[in-house]
Amino acid sequence: MDALVIEGGRPLRGSVQIGAAKNAVLPLMAAALLAGGESHLRRIPKLADVRTLGLLLEHLGARVRPDNGGLLIDAAAVDGREAPYELVKTMRASVLVLGPLVARFGRARVSLPGGCAIGARPINLHLKGLEAMGAEVVLEHGYVDVRALRLRGARIVLDIPTVTGTENLMMAAALADGTTVIENAAREPEVEDLAACLIAMGARIRGAGSAVLEIDGVDALIPFDHTPIPDRIEAGTLMAAAALCDGDITLVGARLDHLDAFVVKLREAGAEVTDLGGQRVRVVSGQRRCGVDLRTSPHPGFPTDMQAQFMALMCKGTGTSVITEKVFENRFMHVSELSRMGADITVEGASAMVRGVAQLSGARVMATDLRASAALVLAGLAAEGATTVSRVYHLDRGYEALEVKLGALGAQIERIKE
Ligand code: EPU
Repeated sequence: MDALVIEGGRPLRGSVQIGAAKNAVLPLMAAALLAGGESHLRRIPKLADVRTLGLLLEHLGARVRPDNGGLLIDAAAVDGREAPYELVKTMRASVLVLGPLVARFGRARVSLPGGCAIGARPINLHLKGLEAMGAEVVLEHGYVDVRALRLRGARIVLDIPTVTGTENLMMAAALADGTTVIENAAREPEVEDLAACLIAMGARIRGAGSAVLEIDGVDALIPFDHTPIPDRIEAGTLMAAAALCDGDITLVGARLDHLDAFVVKLREAGAEVTDLGGQRVRVVSGQRRCGVDLRTSPHPGFPTDMQAQFMALMCKGTGTSVITEKVFENRFMHVSELSRMGADITVEGASAMVRGVAQLSGARVMATDLRASAALVLAGLAAEGATTVSRVYHLDRGYEALEVKLGALGAQIERIKE
């Protein structure tokens, strides 16, 4: 297994290119199933999750080929209806094929994802929405079997603005008979990006980016040619790294307007963030301050996917911050590993109290999930001495060559085989 070895204490300087957003790319790949032809996704990052979804699409009968940094997905010959346990357990986002398969072929059989490192993460809202659209949902042998001759438009009020749930239902509604209204819909930029792509495919969607989506179903959709939005979480992670490590870096190809709540907190932490225009953002560490409190919430609130990295930022310095996780019930797995590096953190329920310390010290730590791994890398960059982060496969699910990007900025970091 791969590990990252980091020698902390180097300043970060220079420019870094931000890749396309993993959480935009995955639903876009699933959306290719909605059309009987070849869709083109441009500028696709080399990520384990992208490979896994590619395998699933191939398992369903699609042809998936790399093309000049992008992907060509031909869904003309799709004849499979099943997302098997082996693939869903590796990546929960596999559930995104549910909506497209039911909408285009009238049936999908998808393994139930089960819990994961960050919480229970059920898909009941995806299923309730499909039921409201007339689908029959049967749960057996760990799979959900969803059937509908043709989905029909419905009014769906989501209990929680679930991201992949909204995406699944929006894709299903695009080919349903009549109008679907999704209330309390997720407003994440990735949902908006999917809507833009579906509209280019011929879907009729109003309200993308707001809490109410209105979708008039159409009879067929055409293949797309789409460039996904930049990854706001990769950008945020590198910004937090710069803030923590005496940084002066410029992100190239980043959308600051997707990171509003995070940037407010980063500035409170002392960082200087400047929009240079043309999707270039400069981040200078400035006068570092700890003691910044935050609560995660659905977009446009502070993203749960940046919680662990921001906690790493709060670990070193003076002041006490209270970080409250409101989206997932178990997303503090990084705390015990950060503590092994000398961080002073107490967790009580959904809140972690982080008392800044003068210095973190390098240690052997273990990655437990994707964003927790990023937090450990950040702590390693700021620590005194060497840090080894093992189980880097978690990181590789969602960051393309993070060690290469950080290395080019001046970090001393290398990948080893353990
Ligand atoms: N929830 C339910 N029932 C459902 C669906 C969700 O109770 O049917 C709950 C979840 O258990 C959770 C909350 O609703 O407590 C929000 O979950 P959501 O469904 O929005 O999460 P997701 O769609 O499974 C996506 C991202 C995650 C990101 C979350 C929240 C993708 C592929 N994944 O997950 O990304 O953390 O939204 O923003 O888009 C990551 O990239 O590291 C990652 C975990």
